[in-house]
Amino acid sequence: MTVNTQIKAVAARMRRAGYAVARAGVCSSLAPEPLRVGVLRATGALIEPTTSVRPRVHMSDDVRLGADSSVGEECLLQGPLTLGDRSHLGPRTLVITYTHQIGGHELRCPEPPLVKPVTIGTGCWIGAGTIILPGVTIGDGVIVAAGAVVTKDCEPDSLYAGVPARLIRRLP
Ligand SMILES: CC(C)(COP(=O)(O)OP(=O)(O)OC[C@H]1O[C@@H](n2cnc3c(N)ncnc32)[C@H](O)[C@@H]1OP(=O)(O)O)[C@@H](O)C(=O)NCCC(=O)NCCS
Repeated sequence: MTVNTQIKAVAARMRRAGYAVARAGVCSSLAPEPLRVGVLRATGALIEPTTSVRPRVHMSDDVRLGADSSVGEECLLQGPLTLGDRSHLGPRTLVITYTHQIGGHELRCPEPPLVKPVTIGTGCWIGAGTIILPGVTIGDGVIVAAGAVVTKDCEPDSLYAGVPARLIRRLP
């Protein structure tokens, strides 16, 4: 590795650390919403102006939040994640996009991690405490009941619930 590359790597690490500190500082409920959202935007997240992000939310910089949507308290959103317009994430929703190939006896989660983007459509309502696993696509107009673990794609205009989440019924 050349000195130039090393300097760039250190600079990138410092930038990421700075982002992390800025994000940790503003995720508190003491920070007003415009400040919280402003820092999330400044550090990479794409958040439409009409979308609300509640306190103590952690999200990575490759999260895209559509218009008129909301993210409830204490959500943890890994990217790449796309949330459509008019979609709402209840408190403590977890969106997980990182996983691992299953390794052998000595190390079950070998590096490097696998990244599988998650997409949530428009008009969705994701209940509190839902866990959405890597690679899942949730169609437009879906409701996921509180506490579900979504392991597979969800068809549009449907209600899903449970662990693992199952189709409960179609929605008009
Ligand atoms: C899904 C929800 C909206 C209820 O919708 P509903 O159409 O009134 O559903 P019902 O109460 O008629 O239940 C339908 C079936 O789903 C089941 N169900 C409902 N919510 C469930 C849940 N969270 N987990 C597992 N099963 C659930 C019911 O037990 C019922 O099963 P059954 O037909 O075998 O009896 C509600 O249960 C829910 O999870 N709301 C989210 C609340 C929330 O997270 N708020 C945070 C602020 S956004």
